[in-house]
Amino acid sequence: MTDASYQKCINPNCGAEFDCGQAMFKCPSCGELLDIRYNWDEIYVPSKMSEFAKRWATRDNPLDFSGVWRFRELLNYCEDENKVTIGEGQTILQQNDAVAEYVDMETGCLFLQYEGLNPSGSFKDNGMTAAFSHAKMVGATSSACASTGNTSASVALYAHSCGIKCTVFIGSGRIAFGKLSQAMDYGAQTIQILGDFDDCMRQVQDVCTKLGLYLLNSLNPFRLEGQKAIMYRIIEGLGWEVPDWIIVPGGNLGNSSAFGKAFSELKQLGLIDHVPRMAIINATGADTLTDLVNNKKLTWNDGHVDQAIIDNYYADLTARNFSPHTCASAIEISRPVNLKKCLRAIDICDGVVRAVTDEEILDAKALIGKHGLGCEPASAATIAGLKHLRAEGLIDADQRVACVLTGHALKDPDRTVNYHKDKQGKLSNPPIEASNDLDEILKLIK
Ligand code: F0G
Repeated sequence: MTDASYQKCINPNCGAEFDCGQAMFKCPSCGELLDIRYNWDEIYVPSKMSEFAKRWATRDNPLDFSGVWRFRELLNYCEDENKVTIGEGQTILQQNDAVAEYVDMETGCLFLQYEGLNPSGSFKDNGMTAAFSHAKMVGATSSACASTGNTSASVALYAHSCGIKCTVFIGSGRIAFGKLSQAMDYGAQTIQILGDFDDCMRQVQDVCTKLGLYLLNSLNPFRLEGQKAIMYRIIEGLGWEVPDWIIVPGGNLGNSSAFGKAFSELKQLGLIDHVPRMAIINATGADTLTDLVNNKKLTWNDGHVDQAIIDNYYADLTARNFSPHTCASAIEISRPVNLKKCLRAIDICDGVVRAVTDEEILDAKALIGKHGLGCEPASAATIAGLKHLRAEGLIDADQRVACVLTGHALKDPDRTVNYHKDKQGKLSNPPIEASNDLDEILKLIK
């Protein structure tokens, strides 16, 4: 544990503080979310972000190789000896002019931050390297998470790389096979609950409290510290410049929360001169954030969030027995645990929220697949959302936009195969059947 870091409740009426040697994930005094805070005056932080580039020269040190720990001064809560890394964060920022054309943006303005290149194939590894380092620091031996799939894959991978046991909770029939296969293959105890992600999230918190397991969902503030690094790498990919817009899918709202915190800290430290705007994209079948922000006018309000609006909204979901449904199973969540931190991020980044349909998501996914690196449906919500924001004129054609592609295309092969085979969208590319005959085959080839 470092002296310069501590945990602090985000509720301004509480503000309780705790050292980082404890694992609790919610404020024991008031039940609100916790933040990791730093006494920056006591920490050496490079004077320019470009200083971090020096670590490329010493990447035979696993901490310098890691795309998270390369920036370790900015998430400084743990000694090096406890840090767990398996080479996460070797991801790229791809300028993509073909996708830019689809969303009516100018050449050279659209960038895809491809997090599918992580060891478990999604952005989650940025968070798990940070959370498992804390787990080791506090001596945890057993861990758990609820998941729409990617968290479970990442938890399973990291747990076994550092000798911690893990149990993952998934909603029955709610998880893409690529992800389920990973959790089983990496040796996680997998518990399928007859319910959705929100049910799993409730259960896992009780299980962790009762059995003293280390919780790895994005309620865990140490996880979010690692996810800040995705933003550092976007800045790095742009030659240490800040884009005009960040676009991110919204599920449990850990990423958007972490990104807002990253920019607020960088600005405070004088490492960037302005904060980019942020767009968070829901699927229409799981659009709690969109509804609360755009229709119910819920805001951060300096931390004094109107809890009654949230309580009424959730009571209505319960009364209607509502369960979210979208092809983007990763973001099929109706009670996002990081809602309040996300509202803070919207405040920091002058953020906007939009929802896109499954049809729009699947077309955008096929387009990215054809012209980019491929991604899973939730990731493609960013491009579908950007298309909306361009049509509205909120984002200009010559602004620099970075979309976070959160997960690999192979995470959810069924969606991809069905889209093409069953001709579900504009970009369907179905296989052509041919008899086992050379002349016929030759005629088919264009
Ligand atoms: N994209 C992908 C591929 C995801 O797996 C998730 C979340 C999100 C976006 C949403 O991110 O929660 O930070 O807003 N997946 C979680 C899971 C919930 O269990 O794997 P968020």
